[in-house]
Amino acid sequence: CGIVGYIGFRDAYPIVIKGLHRLEYRGYDSAGVAVQNNGLKVYKKAGKVSDLENFVKDIDTDGTVAMGHTRWATHGAPSDRNSHPHSSGDRKLTIIHNGIIENYAVVKEALLAKGHVFKSDTDTEVLIHLVEDIRNETNLDLNECVRLALNRVVGAYAIVIMSVDDPDQIIAARKGSPMVIGVGKGEYFIASDATPIVEYTKNVIYLNDNEIAYIKRDDLLIKSIDNKVQTPYIQKLELQLEMLEKGGYDHFMLKEIYEQPRSVGDCLRGRIYPDRGLVQLGGIKEYAEKLKNIDRIIIVACGTSWHAGLVGEYLIEEYARVPVEVEYASEFRYRNPIITEKDVVIAISQSGETADTMAAIELAKERGATIFGICNVVGASIPRLSHAGVYTHAGPEIGVASTKAFTAQVTALTMLAFYTAQQRGAITESKLIEYLTELNNIPALIQKTFAANDHIKTISEEYKDASNCLFLGRGSSFPVALEGALKLKEISYIHAEGYPAAEMKHGPIALIDADMPVVFIATQNSSYEKVISNIQEVKARGGRVIAIVTEGDTIVRDMAEHTIEIPEVSEAFVPLLATIPLQLLSYHIAVLRGCNVDQPRNLAKSVTVE
Ligand code: G6P
Repeated sequence: CGIVGYIGFRDAYPIVIKGLHRLEYRGYDSAGVAVQNNGLKVYKKAGKVSDLENFVKDIDTDGTVAMGHTRWATHGAPSDRNSHPHSSGDRKLTIIHNGIIENYAVVKEALLAKGHVFKSDTDTEVLIHLVEDIRNETNLDLNECVRLALNRVVGAYAIVIMSVDDPDQIIAARKGSPMVIGVGKGEYFIASDATPIVEYTKNVIYLNDNEIAYIKRDDLLIKSIDNKVQTPYIQKLELQLEMLEKGGYDHFMLKEIYEQPRSVGDCLRGRIYPDRGLVQLGGIKEYAEKLKNIDRIIIVACGTSWHAGLVGEYLIEEYARVPVEVEYASEFRYRNPIITEKDVVIAISQSGETADTMAAIELAKERGATIFGICNVVGASIPRLSHAGVYTHAGPEIGVASTKAFTAQVTALTMLAFYTAQQRGAITESKLIEYLTELNNIPALIQKTFAANDHIKTISEEYKDASNCLFLGRGSSFPVALEGALKLKEISYIHAEGYPAAEMKHGPIALIDADMPVVFIATQNSSYEKVISNIQEVKARGGRVIAIVTEGDTIVRDMAEHTIEIPEVSEAFVPLLATIPLQLLSYHIAVLRGCNVDQPRNLAKSVTVE
């Protein structure tokens, strides 16, 4: 979910609405605002931010204090009444919330027994009723009541509260869910991430867990939840406004696909020195010695980041010769995993906020492991929770389906594999020089893969009406196949599955017929011949094949319905190139099917609830 707030001298509602549009990628099934406008006015609506705007368009929303929310439903279906803000029973207080109140059922029961009446099914409404209840019982001021209420709830939250009796103040608090405060002159901005703030100020404060901010136009007081005054640390944002705009592309996803030569280049910059055969990862250098003697690495992540982790497994095992396990963070955290102080746990996350990944880190940390974060968003929760890490520097990713963040994660993991190999003496200097020279050239080769765009569009027209699609690959191209399938299902709603090519004959082969396209990653690497046999198995059953092949390949071209060429590279770098045509294929198919590419149904970009 996305949160935005403003207190200052400008008209607050337009700032909040614009901010919600910027945050819409975080969830878009309902939206709402609260404005101080001769009393506390709340407007909310199921649907997109634009639906809310239409609903409010003829209403007077003047006022210099406001907040807004865009939601990804957890408790309660998307509906007007479950949208945020939620108000107290006396309607004097209203709240927006990102996260989850785990003990809401117990708290709700106690409040129901005291006569509270709830209008929604949300955990959020319970929290604001709790504040109201404490206020009624204690007569303490609002600031103190909010603090006491937060001490009674268990869970993760970023909240903003407004009160009719304190119209010149906004209260914000966080625990486990991000919150940024933009600092202006006589004004403050509040948001779940910096994107709504950057056009007004570059001075920001990242609220820490268990902190509450009491914000007035000219005054900001931050206290810990146990009532100690905190000194805020003001940071400068590096984000540029242009990074948040579509820049002439039809969709953010397409823009982000085309940004990959740059984003991969940014990830590599200053970290690899091909002529010296050297990888330097400043963020983890303190742990170089640990990597030297390590017995095992565990990678935890969700979604696309998990696929990057699988690529990482192949590369780290191949080049650094360290055993690697890759786990879904959501499984890892609930299964009492075996972890010791000797382990390094790598948490991969674009947003740095995914709740399951954060919980996995906490568990591994409790058991003494060293945590490396591989994240895109600088200053997000996961880098802050980690002992060390590597930022991917892909720049803001707005399209909900991850593209450039994935290739940047794979780039970071590729460097990490060589870095670890270097520490352990598992690779010779001359080999390293060779590989790093090739890696350094990958951004230019990604650029070359775009030459196939029109061809991919033509292929997409032929297959746009498919209802199923299979993606197959071997070795490190297997996770690429998984990612290709995920991309297609996420944005086009075509059912797609990724499989190791050799496993196809143990099940998915039963599905093959002329109506099901099968996408192979069939580049000329170690398993090329094996993949060719798999292609023949598909052809023998009347299947239609689209193959990603090495430039100049004629063998696969003669077998497949369509081939898409990528430049020739060593096996280590195939994932970075083979991913690109698959992204374009999904993109074009989804556009042809009339889907909302940037905001596919039911999804959210960062899932801050478990
Ligand atoms: C959501 C997004 C995915 C993403 C996953 C993990 O499901 O829709 O695109 O891969 O979360 O997110 P993270 O920010 O941790 O990489």
